[in-house]
Amino acid sequence: MYADVTPTIVRSIAEYLSHDLPHQLSPDDILLAPGANQAIEVVMSVLARPGANILLSRPGYPFYEARAACSNLEVRHFDLLPEKGSEVDLESVEALVDDNTIAIVIINPENPCGNVFTSEHLQEAVLQFDQSPLLLSLFRLLNAFKIILNTVLILQRSFRSIEEYLSHDLPHQLSPDDILLAPGANQAIEVVMSVLARPGANILLSRPGYPFYEARAACSNLEVCHFDLLPEKGWEVDLESVEALVDDNTIAIVIINPGNPCGNVFTSEHLQEIAETAKKLGILVIADEVYSHLCFGNNPFVSMGVYGSITPMLTLGSISKRWIVPGWRLGWIAMIDPSGVLKKSGIAECLQDYLEYSANPATIVQGAVPHLLEKTSKDFFSNINNILKEAIEAFYTKVQEIPCLTCPYKPEGAMCVMIKLNLSFLEGINDDMEFCAKA
Ligand SMILES: Cc1ncc(COP(=O)(O)O)c(C=O)c1O
Repeated sequence: MYADVTPTIVRSIAEYLSHDLPHQLSPDDILLAPGANQAIEVVMSVLARPGANILLSRPGYPFYEARAACSNLEVRHFDLLPEKGSEVDLESVEALVDDNTIAIVIINPENPCGNVFTSEHLQEAVLQFDQSPLLLSLFRLLNAFKIILNTVLILQRSFRSIEEYLSHDLPHQLSPDDILLAPGANQAIEVVMSVLARPGANILLSRPGYPFYEARAACSNLEVCHFDLLPEKGWEVDLESVEALVDDNTIAIVIINPGNPCGNVFTSEHLQEIAETAKKLGILVIADEVYSHLCFGNNPFVSMGVYGSITPMLTLGSISKRWIVPGWRLGWIAMIDPSGVLKKSGIAECLQDYLEYSANPATIVQGAVPHLLEKTSKDFFSNINNILKEAIEAFYTKVQEIPCLTCPYKPEGAMCVMIKLNLSFLEGINDDMEFCAKA
């Protein structure tokens, strides 16, 4: 259903770019991103280090300033000289560079000036930086766009259809302003973590859980505190351990329902208990519902958002699982905030501002969303749930025949299952990592 076409794409991009270069690029020289803005984001995050600065042109493309601020990079501006066809003022560049300068950004053809640098000028610039022992020679001169024309296409219909779709699961109607789009739920997690992070803050994640949260928390310098899910209680949250973990610096708790990796589905009573605990502790709930409605056991899917009147929350969703289109990259953050706390606290505005400076889902996918959400037949969904149920039944039965494996809980939702290893039955295998490596 989802073929990884990355090797073919990077090969053709390497070929395409090599036409403009004196040497041949290899596919290993190419890294893909969901757009050039996202590529800027990646480069800035990777180059950033405490005290570093980066050289940007004045005038320039403001996205660089915004991303530099997100990565705590100091910005130093060099001038473009209108009287010289907007060439770089190389003297001002020289005066700006010091030991902490990590890169210079050259936009060619230029935005916003619209000039195209001569090859002599580019060579002059490169020679100057080559001679500078202080500068990392890590920049690339981008010669990507012949026409600088950004068509901003806001597809209001995709917001409206997501808001309608989510409102079916809620006691109140969402508005399009409550929905924020991202190029997948992973990117939604990234946005939420970056916006909530502040020095010394911590976040509560489940153990077991979805490891992407740990990775993104580390990128945002958020300390992670783990609460347990209890296998003997159908992987319910150990709310006592949650209460013991929270302190003044706890910003949020992440709840994944239906659960990855346990395949559990929380009852509405348990979701209510979680919401009440979060309210008592004064922490935000982030409810990851990317597997919403993929339920095939006793518990139906209930959105955490049903309890939004108890405490404000962000629910995260995606088209990747229920519609089985992981490569289409479209997810959302829904602000469930009937009492307006997220708006008053500024979190809603920060999320919106952050998304101004990060990649959007491809417009072609945004365009498909209303059809997907409004027109997919019930049969499609029940067929997917039946396939998942059959796969789990077959897996569960087989596991019971294998002495070294036990499955403490037969999954009722999502697309995963937790297995317990009995290492005493296994020769030469000391832990789960070795089991995976050798199995
Ligand atoms: C719990 C959970 N959240 C988020 C995601 C990411 O979803 P997406 O494919 O939309 O990025 C996944 C994907 O496996 C997941 O399991």
